[in-house]
Amino acid sequence: MVLPILHYPDERLRKPSVPLASISDEDRVLIDNMIATMYDAPGVGLAAPQVGVHKRIIILDITVGKEPDSLLVMINPEILSAEGEQTDEEGCLSVPGYNGNITRAQTVEVSYMTREGEQTTFNAEGLMARAIQHEVDHLDGILFVDRLSPLKRDMIKRKIKKAIRQGAYR
Ligand code: NI
Repeated sequence: MVLPILHYPDERLRKPSVPLASISDEDRVLIDNMIATMYDAPGVGLAAPQVGVHKRIIILDITVGKEPDSLLVMINPEILSAEGEQTDEEGCLSVPGYNGNITRAQTVEVSYMTREGEQTTFNAEGLMARAIQHEVDHLDGILFVDRLSPLKRDMIKRKIKKAIRQGAYR
């Protein structure tokens, strides 16, 4: 089932998410719905708080469904180490129509629980590393706009306020 995605400045995007001790049937349904929602959007990643559920679950597919094996479901993801630097344009399904250049680590090592409940680690670089950092930020109530330069951030916020007034952004 495709779920509605919350849009900035919805305050629910600011609430930190809590870790899962175990994975319930309800969580499995949520994960399936998150996958349907991400591919429908379409997007390269989605975090549970973006659909209003404050659990530490993220999903990623930087091929946007082109390679079925590339879908990753991470429960309680934790960035263990981060190295290097990359700057590139970033957007977010919760801030539709806007993007900006963000500097992030080039490589990350992340630990997480799979949907089968196994604890594992994963090394990512480039776009995948960027996507993981972006989605983990969501679990802490952080949006990419928060990481823009103050000038660019104020500009985007002003534009969105204006678009909301004009009914062009919801
Ligand atoms: Ni996002």
